[in-house]
Amino acid sequence: MPRILVVDDEENLRLLLRTFLKRHGYVVEVADNGESALKLVESFGPDFILTDVRMPRMGGLDLLSTLKAKGNEATVIVMSAYGNVDLAIEAIKAGAYDYVQKPFKNDEVLLTLRKAEERESLRRENRALRQEMLRESVFEEMLAKSSAMADIFKTIAKVADYKTTALITGESGVGKELVARALHQRSNRRDGPFVAVNCGAIPETLLEAELFGHKQGAFTDATHDRVGLFEQADGGTLFLDEIGELPLALQVKLLRAVQDERIRRIGDSKDIQIDVRITAATHRDLGAEVQAGRFRDDLYYRINVLHIHVPPLRERREDITLLIDHFIARNNVRLGTAIRGIGTGARRLLVEYQWPGNVRELENTIERAMVLTEGDTLGESDLPERIHQARDPIRLQLASGELSVKKTTRVIEEVLIRRALQETRGNRTKAAALLELSHRALLYKIKDYGIEL
Ligand SMILES: Nc1ncnc2c1ncn2[C@@H]1O[C@H](COP(=O)(O)OP(=O)(O)OP(=O)(O)O)[C@@H](O)[C@H]1O
Ligand SMILES: [Mg+2]
Repeated sequence: MPRILVVDDEENLRLLLRTFLKRHGYVVEVADNGESALKLVESFGPDFILTDVRMPRMGGLDLLSTLKAKGNEATVIVMSAYGNVDLAIEAIKAGAYDYVQKPFKNDEVLLTLRKAEERESLRRENRALRQEMLRESVFEEMLAKSSAMADIFKTIAKVADYKTTALITGESGVGKELVARALHQRSNRRDGPFVAVNCGAIPETLLEAELFGHKQGAFTDATHDRVGLFEQADGGTLFLDEIGELPLALQVKLLRAVQDERIRRIGDSKDIQIDVRITAATHRDLGAEVQAGRFRDDLYYRINVLHIHVPPLRERREDITLLIDHFIARNNVRLGTAIRGIGTGARRLLVEYQWPGNVRELENTIERAMVLTEGDTLGESDLPERIHQARDPIRLQLASGELSVKKTTRVIEEVLIRRALQETRGNRTKAAALLELSHRALLYKIKDYGIEL
């Protein structure tokens, strides 16, 4: 049964409403001003508050703003005397759901309450639905609703506990590192360390010491013992990022470490037992690297036990919208901005763009737009030039690698005709003159290209 708190300084009205509302199935409490109402709100927990505006001690508007400040979610309906419409409107602006004008017939109050109830249950449903959707599309730090990513989430959940080496491939910025982290987080090693190393960023001469450590005096600069990343990752996961960049000499040593689960610090005479799960990532086609002799096939087979390929963003455009909203919300917190969302035009541009830099590029694009925008909603003009240009059909045609003069000319011709028609506001005679085409030819082409006027 819905709970309602009636707040009015007139005792008669309180009694009348109490009897009437009880009869219609409400649990009713009453208070004679805002202050006593506030005290009751805590213990009674009303779904609805029906309050007068003018009351001694604390009026309805103060009650309303105090409730909102406390984050109370009760639906407030304001009763105001005839002639006080301004106050009622003010109350609605302050977050009241509706108002009824005094004097009222009981049925009016009931109708307003029923309407509010309906809206409440819709709101609850929406909230539940939104949460449900979010739960389904969040996996550790990743957000996605495409079926390709859902498959990846399933795979991770299934294999996380095994010590199997995983090779994660995909273009730059698709989220390879997040996949590696999720594999770690979902495994029984989650309380152990996650150690990441970028094999492409460390010079070959230093990488070996970085991975395996060294003894004091092993070489000139080795002034003390050093624990390598393999040892640091003991009991956890070692993530070898950009493994395709690993020099051949180190590939041999890595293979031994992975196979024997033992490493030896440089300059040491004894092995150290390690318990590390290896994950590796690369944007290269390692199979092709093996063919070309740049990557050892034995290491390749040892690492590629479980292969997870993260598809580029343009092949899972369903994820773009979700990620846009996520990045806006996250940046609002991080940057202290108050951006409410993104316009439909801008959103469409982002969904259609090719995203060569994938999720990272999208992330940066949103952040840049949020810093640049002058409004509270991101618009097309807040997006960088390259995203606008990517829409240009002539550019797209030229970028496609098509060599046919005929096909390419058609694309250019259509753009020019559309431009001329726009400039002349659809006047075909004038447009034909601008285009230096005969009127007849223009009519034919308009039909041919399916241009609607
Ligand atoms: N599904 C996702 N949900 C939320 N954020 C994501 C998602 N995928 C990627 N990101 C974000 O995009 C950025 C790039 O992700 P990550 O570093 O994992 O990509 P990568 O494939 O390792 O890239 P690179 O090849 O350049 O190393 C990160 O900031 C990451 O948080
Ligand atoms: Mg990475």
